[in-house]
Amino acid sequence: MSRIFNFSAGPSMLPVEVLEIAKQELLDWQGSGMSVMEMSHRGKQFMAIAETLKNDLIELMAIPANYKVLFLQGGASAQFALIPQNILNGQHKASYVNTGAWSTSAIKEASKYCQVQIVASAEASGFTTIPALNDWHIDSDTAYLHYTSNETIHGVEFSDIPDSGAIPLVCDMSSNILSREFDVSRYGLIYAGTQKNMGPAGVTVVIVREDLVGLAAANVPAVFDYAQQAKGDSMLNTPATYNWYLLGLVLQWLKKQGGVAAIEQRNINKAKKLYRAIDDSNLYRNPVDVAYRSRMNVPFVLADAALDKEFLQLAEKQGLGSLPGHRSVGGMRASIYNAMPEAGIDALIEFMVEFERTH
Ligand SMILES: Cc1ncc(COP(=O)(O)O)c(C=O)c1O
Repeated sequence: MSRIFNFSAGPSMLPVEVLEIAKQELLDWQGSGMSVMEMSHRGKQFMAIAETLKNDLIELMAIPANYKVLFLQGGASAQFALIPQNILNGQHKASYVNTGAWSTSAIKEASKYCQVQIVASAEASGFTTIPALNDWHIDSDTAYLHYTSNETIHGVEFSDIPDSGAIPLVCDMSSNILSREFDVSRYGLIYAGTQKNMGPAGVTVVIVREDLVGLAAANVPAVFDYAQQAKGDSMLNTPATYNWYLLGLVLQWLKKQGGVAAIEQRNINKAKKLYRAIDDSNLYRNPVDVAYRSRMNVPFVLADAALDKEFLQLAEKQGLGSLPGHRSVGGMRASIYNAMPEAGIDALIEFMVEFERTH
């Protein structure tokens, strides 16, 4: 068996220990005589898996008791539309910060349901920075303030949680959830697709403060209504059972690593090493404002774009996979989520140094 270092932005690398457990338990989960895939979601075995999953997430993120934790479908993209439908609560305006492609998508969807106030935008910079927080003006007649804590495509990450005062703060945390500590009590709602830092694709985590639950308009379909999903333990329809199980295994792995604080330290070290290698070279460049460089997604360009193809081909041959940048921006991008070991960063740096030396 040979496994590559997979720098994909998502779906992305999973801890090998998790895959080993899934392999061992594939045909017979803990003496049940069946695969988790084959279990009824109402049966006692799966109910135990679901309960452990939820409790582990609550523990890892220190989620306060006044929050509901939902495991839904449709990805973060569905939430772009479901958040306004669930929490506008009859108001006509919502505020958004535009820091990149994913904020832009969230804004586009929300605009179908309400007037969107753009509080701040980094578009003029080519999405290479975060607009200074004290320049933000948030209208008082707004239902919530939305931001994207890490822009996966541009490699731009908030270093702090913005202060929205009494206005509920809503965050797309898809690409940095569980990678660093977040004070959940600062948020009205957090959502994230699981396919980057949490497990395979197919589950969307929504963590929502209780006062924002039960506000959906009457015409919102039941499966999209947070209150009904919360009441039904996210099982209003048949959940993505096997993905819940895999997500649970990743959370147990994370607990064994020492939890979020410990993995955050490792993520800081990994990112530091890679940015230093980029900054120390004459061939590679990262365009992002140093204060807002992402610890999770590290985009970089080569001084001579004509070398891109060869760089990627040789990297692939060395077992360094999925390094092309997003199709909308080009260049390279190394996504280095929780499951990327430090050895993967070292191997990438070693390759980059050697490529520069020979080119
Ligand atoms: C920050 C962010 N938000 C939203 C999305 C969209 O997620 P999904 O494909 O789960 O709808 C992504 C996907 O890469 C993302 O990185």
